[in-house]
Amino acid sequence: PSSWSVFSQEEVSRHRSLEDRVWVTFKGGVYDITEFVSMHPGGDRIMLAAGGAVEPFWALYAVHNQEHVLEMLAEYKVGEL
Ligand code: HEM
Repeated sequence: PSSWSVFSQEEVSRHRSLEDRVWVTFKGGVYDITEFVSMHPGGDRIMLAAGGAVEPFWALYAVHNQEHVLEMLAEYKVGEL
């Protein structure tokens, strides 16, 4: 979409379980990654970022610093902060 929904950090933080759906933020974008959680190559650790920013974790796990990871993330975008 050219005009994304805008969500608050507080709204994002309410989505941190598979039941409530799993949302994360990355560079101002909001992503619903619920359907990706079970496919994550790094396993359950992905839930550490649930409801918040992925940047602190991706700084630790540089495997994410690749074009194909960002392209994949883009498919889950639901809005912006
Ligand atoms: C690997 C995506 C969050 C830890 C990967 C890979 C992808 C991915 C695509 C494979 C990369 C490759 O091998 O080329 C994501 C997405 C995330 C996310 C979309 C959130 C939106 C996290 C978080 C952590 C984490 C929060 C840790 C706290 C890891 C680790 C691997 C990995 C350790 C390497 C697994 C291995 O090769 O054995 N992730 N990740 N990820 N991820 Fe994540």
